[in-house]
Amino acid sequence: MQKHRRFFLFTTLLGICVFSYHVFLYFGPSLKTRPAFVKRLSSGAIHSRFDDFRRDWFRQHRARVDWKSILKPCINNTQWGLVKKYWGRENRSSARTSQVVYTDIRPAGEFSKIFIQSKTADNRTKLIGGDSWRVHLHGPSSLGATVFDHENGTYEILFLIMEPGNYQVIIYLDFSLCDGLKEPPADWFIKGNSQGKEQEEGILGPLDQYLLQPFNEGKHFNIRIPVATVNTRFIDKLQYNAKSCTQSCNHLWDGFGRWTNKTWRPYLDEYYGWSLAEGYRRKGTLCVYGDSLGVSLGRSMQSRALCKTLYERCITSYNWIYPISKGRRKENDDLDFRPELVIENIHKGLIRNLIHSLKKGEENKMNHRAKIIWKTTTSIHREYFEKKNVTSRRFITAKRIALFSAFATSAMCNAGFDVIDVYPISDAYPNGALDHVHYNPRVFWDLETLLEKYKTQNNEKLDDNKWKRLKRCIG
Ligand SMILES: *[C@@H]1O[C@H](CO)[C@@H](O)[C@H](O)[C@H]1NC(C)=O
Ligand SMILES: *[C@@H]1O[C@H](CO)[C@@H](O)[C@H](O)[C@H]1NC(C)=O
Ligand SMILES: *[C@@H]1O[C@H](CO)[C@@H](O)[C@H](O)[C@H]1NC(C)=O
Ligand SMILES: *[C@@H]1O[C@H](CO)[C@@H](O)[C@H](O)[C@H]1NC(C)=O
Ligand SMILES: *[C@@H]1O[C@H](CO)[C@@H](O)[C@H](O)[C@H]1NC(C)=O
Ligand SMILES: *[C@@H]1O[C@H](CO)[C@@H](O)[C@H](O)[C@H]1NC(C)=O
Repeated sequence: MQKHRRFFLFTTLLGICVFSYHVFLYFGPSLKTRPAFVKRLSSGAIHSRFDDFRRDWFRQHRARVDWKSILKPCINNTQWGLVKKYWGRENRSSARTSQVVYTDIRPAGEFSKIFIQSKTADNRTKLIGGDSWRVHLHGPSSLGATVFDHENGTYEILFLIMEPGNYQVIIYLDFSLCDGLKEPPADWFIKGNSQGKEQEEGILGPLDQYLLQPFNEGKHFNIRIPVATVNTRFIDKLQYNAKSCTQSCNHLWDGFGRWTNKTWRPYLDEYYGWSLAEGYRRKGTLCVYGDSLGVSLGRSMQSRALCKTLYERCITSYNWIYPISKGRRKENDDLDFRPELVIENIHKGLIRNLIHSLKKGEENKMNHRAKIIWKTTTSIHREYFEKKNVTSRRFITAKRIALFSAFATSAMCNAGFDVIDVYPISDAYPNGALDHVHYNPRVFWDLETLLEKYKTQNNEKLDDNKWKRLKRCIG
């Protein structure tokens, strides 16, 4: 009898590995919001609100893979040292003068929107895009918002709140004038170490692009989300309307939801419980390939059923750009970035090692099949760095990471790999990261449970028939 053996490659590529400190700021103006409470709705009105919901649901999901839209406001404007005509420093946005010009606050279970009109420090209305705004909401639940740059000076903040009540809107302006998307100079790797880090302070000249400005000088900005006014949840309706899906991704986990009372609640409320089938035999190797976030996940999995009873082995491969190996860290320090080395290391470190480890276990009885799951990188908290304008950290920006993440995830979706998007769950986490990038492993507890369930069901499918179609539809 031929044994089929599957093993899993679990990937977090090119994450960021750096260290930082704690600074937490609160702010936001108080603003009168239009009460969106509607007593009695005609079926036509419900219909149009459902259409809004449907459109915004897919916009929010698509934004996680739509790298072209992230780049578009800054096309031909990402080169270091280049100042595009009319994009000079005096036209930087200012979070102090920028204003909320429109709010569309809807009842719980519907998408709400806030529009910001960006302005310069001397209070001129801006007509160009390129800012990096970052928005979170805290109240009966905690979540991050999706921000769209309309390229005319306005920015749309989109979010879905399920628990009604008062929320504080926390808005920061991180960068303006595409500074959040600027590429490093061509010799950045040569001047840094082999991992593209530790460039000498000052080699970029004086840095003042990182703004980290709280909106309206940090004055409180609250909104009130009314209780739901429709009986059937729009999310439930969406499920039956997801038929005309034009763009899809094999999401095992789309990551969207909110934290309430320290509990993660996905919008598509799924059941992650699992039980072991009669006669289940421990099998396979789970390999986590990634940076320190991958190492942390791998370590956490060690104490879970995943590695104790479901897989035969769990291994972790630690990389920054290249593998981290003791004593050899300085080997490539004066060389430029070599993408071929990254590919080679994935092959060497991951695939060959895995096959080798399996072969040792069972000579000649192999029929290797690897299943690859792409795990995205988490939300960063650059603001926790004690030193803000440090040369070697200049290009670690939330926007660049969003761009990388969207590009990589879109490629993985298109290639048909299973995808786990951990960005929204980490971005929504009310306590933020432990430092600038690392999270309490508790944050991903449910994800590990989902992986356990997946494993017990032969990695083929989850019994998530209720949401399966919707979870995979991104447009
Ligand atoms: C960017 O630059 C290229 C080459 O100079 C040009 O062909 C293209 O039209 C530019 N795109 C935009 C959006 O300005
Ligand atoms: C700032 O923007 C205004 C209006 O577009 C433009 O006239 C001016 O030249 C810009 N200034 C700089 C320094 O780019
Ligand atoms: C900027 O101008 C607007 C009117 O366009 C005014 O309401 C606001 O108070 C001004 N802000 C500052 C900081 O001067
Ligand atoms: C900016 O663009 C958005 C999206 O195209 C549009 O809805 C909005 O009216 C525009 N705002 C201004 C001030 O031009
Ligand atoms: C970076 O440096 C500039 C110029 O010194 C300063 O205005 C800015 O506040 C600094 N950024 C942060 C986030 O501290
Ligand atoms: C959180 O817990 C408190 C106390 O247990 C409860 O009253 C509240 O409804 C919970 N909030 C949510 C959003 O579930």
